[in-house]
Amino acid sequence: MWNPHEQRVVVTGASSGIGAATAIELARQGAVVGLVARRKHQLAEVLAACRETSPHSQMFVADLAELDALPALVERMTATLGQIDVLVNNAGIPKRRTVTTMTLDDAESVMRMNYLSPVALTMAVLPAMRARDAGHVVNISSMGAHMVAFGVGAYSATKAALEFFTEAMYVELASTGVRAHVVVPGTTASEFSTPKDGNDPPFPSDPATTASPEQVAAAIIACLSDDRFITYATERDQATSVARNADPNAFLASMADRLKSLNR
Ligand SMILES: NC(=O)c1ccc[n+]([C@@H]2O[C@H](COP(=O)([O-])OP(=O)(O)OC[C@H]3O[C@@H](n4cnc5c(N)ncnc54)[C@H](OP(=O)(O)O)[C@@H]3O)[C@@H](O)[C@H]2O)c1
Repeated sequence: MWNPHEQRVVVTGASSGIGAATAIELARQGAVVGLVARRKHQLAEVLAACRETSPHSQMFVADLAELDALPALVERMTATLGQIDVLVNNAGIPKRRTVTTMTLDDAESVMRMNYLSPVALTMAVLPAMRARDAGHVVNISSMGAHMVAFGVGAYSATKAALEFFTEAMYVELASTGVRAHVVVPGTTASEFSTPKDGNDPPFPSDPATTASPEQVAAAIIACLSDDRFITYATERDQATSVARNADPNAFLASMADRLKSLNR
């Protein structure tokens, strides 16, 4: 059982949504949280909420798409927090563009933010974790990597890449005390699914199948007590992934039929 008490946990993308909910719940459980994002004002509000229960929590304003700056950021966070016991790579951006309308820049920028940035942060924290033979890296994926990806192909590809990178890490570190995890949210109520520059309009979401950030935060924290590679935020998402992987051709054919019937 993972004991959050005085564990130092870095949560990226902690200024809103899943990251904010995860940071606040970790702080409530006694962890010292390091919050990372660009928006200083929002981050300060989340930090204030964390400090109500975990006064030593800290915030670090940074643009995680600036890959060259990430080793220095990890050094700064390590010096401030003492050490990093857990890294939650949660920060991410959408890319709602169909394959026929997106540009190569679209594909590259979302890959930099959603794949290369967590890889760079992971590479920067691993040496100290290996030296202590203890630590966790949690990478936040998406159901986009597990089912049909209409209009979000470039985004889904970043999460598929992140999952396979994490899978390699999981196997390579199996004989050590360092653990790698993937958590897969489905549709979750947050700013992620709001209109954004460089993106097509968001899909309407069904409240009946939309998780709360707190639900996903619970799955992220639970995975730290679990040796499994992958954790789905909801049982429904897991069932969808199992159905897709059992017969991808049949699954995609039925999705294609549904989209045709909707004239998309
Ligand atoms: N919501 C969903 O339906 C859904 C579904 C599946 C997976 N996910 C994944 O869940 C994760 C969290 O998303 P969310 O739903 O909580 O969305 P969100 O509310 O939009 O949060 C995204 C977070 O990422 C941070 N971020 C984005 N670009 C950044 C950059 N260049 N540098 C530093 N931080 C950056 C944002 O902070 P700043 O803007 O302040 O920098 C924000 O804190 C993402 O990886 C997303 O892909 C979400």
